[in-house]
Amino acid sequence: MSDAAGAPPPLVATDGVSKAYAGAPAPALAPLSIAVAPGEIVALAGPSGSGKTTLLNLLAGIIQPDAGQVAIAGRPLSQLRSGRELSELVGLIHQQYDLVPHLPVIHNVLAGRLGQWGLLRSVASLVWPQERQTALAVLAQMGIADKINERTSHLSGGEQQRVAIARLMVQSPRLILADEPVASLDPARADEMLSLLTALASASGKTLIVSLHSPHLIRQYCTRVIGLNRGRLEFDVPTSAATADLLDRLYDLEQLPPEVIV
Ligand SMILES: Nc1ncnc2c1ncn2[C@@H]1O[C@H](COP(=O)(O)OP(=O)(O)O)[C@@H](O)[C@H]1O
Ligand SMILES: [Mg+2]
Repeated sequence: MSDAAGAPPPLVATDGVSKAYAGAPAPALAPLSIAVAPGEIVALAGPSGSGKTTLLNLLAGIIQPDAGQVAIAGRPLSQLRSGRELSELVGLIHQQYDLVPHLPVIHNVLAGRLGQWGLLRSVASLVWPQERQTALAVLAQMGIADKINERTSHLSGGEQQRVAIARLMVQSPRLILADEPVASLDPARADEMLSLLTALASASGKTLIVSLHSPHLIRQYCTRVIGLNRGRLEFDVPTSAATADLLDRLYDLEQLPPEVIV
């Protein structure tokens, strides 16, 4: 289906979604309407506290909006019946990766299937990993096939990120969300992580929304950047139009006392 102008229908559409946390003085996200086309690689920028994690959690169906609606591939998240449907549509890499450190790598990778497997199969998988070949193939793509049986906590930080990406590749959702996946990495590792994530997303036709702080990485790896400030949309532009000035100003806002920001 296409509209009259021939544009593909959006993979992600938010219609006036908003969120305020109980007891917070201001809403974390003011009503926001955005649309993201299939295959786009979108950076989410904004100073700390601007609502990036809140938006990603809303898109992942982890929290519910106070008002408005999120639809992925035309399916309103509020109407999805099963965890399986949600896990086929969207997957999120948290900043802390959420790996189980004492389990072997293969179990963490195949955890990407849990949303799609029934309970019995999931429990059986803890004893004898199902789909070993699947896990091996994605780990090989990440260059760490030799770590498949190793205890996850024994891997380096960079290797653990790869395990987190491998888990997402096994889940294979249409929309991949990543919340500051490079925040705790040195510049070389950050570059490597984003290069891997964006290449895998492009190769498999996935849509990616990733929150990032570095103007350099935003420009190098993303096609579009959405800037948030204090829960409001500040700008939404192709990265070619995201001048250093525009991005710097967004982060400079963080340094200003609240009364200066209108
Ligand atoms: N669970 C929560 N309870 C109360 N306030 C929250 C909660 N999570 C986030 N906030 C507040 O909502 C705002 C947006 O936070 P967040 O979405 O985490 O921003 P970001 O990811 O850009 O740093 C901030 O003011 C933050 O303090
Ligand atoms: Mg955050």
